[in-house]
Amino acid sequence: MITIALAKGRLADKAICLLERMGMNLSEIKGESRKLIHTTNDGSIRFIMVKPSDVPVYVEYGTADIGIAGKDTLLEEGRQLYEMLDLNIGRCRLVIAGYPERKRDGIISSRIRVATKYPNITRSYFSSRGEDVEIIKLNGSVELGPLTGLSDVILDIVESGRTLAENGLVILEEVCPVSARLVVNQVSLKTRHDEIKSIIDGLREILEGEGI
Ligand code: PRP
Repeated sequence: MITIALAKGRLADKAICLLERMGMNLSEIKGESRKLIHTTNDGSIRFIMVKPSDVPVYVEYGTADIGIAGKDTLLEEGRQLYEMLDLNIGRCRLVIAGYPERKRDGIISSRIRVATKYPNITRSYFSSRGEDVEIIKLNGSVELGPLTGLSDVILDIVESGRTLAENGLVILEEVCPVSARLVVNQVSLKTRHDEIKSIIDGLREILEGEGI
C-alpha cells in the first residue's frame, strides 16, 4: 500500500480532482467526513489528510511515501525529500507587499519589520540581498501587519490579489512563483519504485494532455 499525504485547505479540492482523473475514487474524502485516513476500495492507496506545513514532515519521515504540497511550504520547511513533479495547480506567487508609498520610498531605507507565515523564506530572501530585517512570525491574516503598524511590509502568497487590493496594499517585489508539487520520500522512491512511478506517470500523462 502506498500512502499519500494530502494538504487540507485551499489545495485539497484541486489535488483530489487531479487524482480522480487518474481513476481513483475519492468520493469519501470529498464529502463532509472528518476521517483523517481514507483507503481506496482496492486497498492499494491510503490518503492521510494533514495540515499543509505537515506534508513535508510526513514525507521526510517516510510515514507517507508521496505528498502533495505547495512550493511555498516546501521552501519554508526545507525537508529532505525528492520533488518529482510540478502539478500546475494552486498557482500563486510569494511577494513582498505593503503600502504603495513604500514602492516610491524603497524598502531598504532602514531595518524594516516583515510580518510573515514564512520566516525561513523571509530570512533567506533578505539575507541573500545582504539586508538585515526583523521578522515577525504570524499564523494568518498577515496583511494586518502593515494595516495595524505591527510591521512595515509582509512576505506572503498572493493568488487573486483581492486581499491586498481590498486592504489598500500593493505588491512591492516578486519573490517567486508557487505551484503544487508532488514530493516523494527518498527511501520509498527506491523500495517502492514501480508503484510510485506508475502514479507519477499517470499524473504526467494528464498534465501533458493539458499541454503542460
Ligand atoms: C492567503 C494569503 C493571503 C490570501 C491571498 O491566506 O495569506 O492572505 O490567501 O489570496 P488572494 O490573493 O486570492 O486574496 P489564507 O486564505 O490561506 O488564510 P490565512 O491568512 O488565514 O492564512
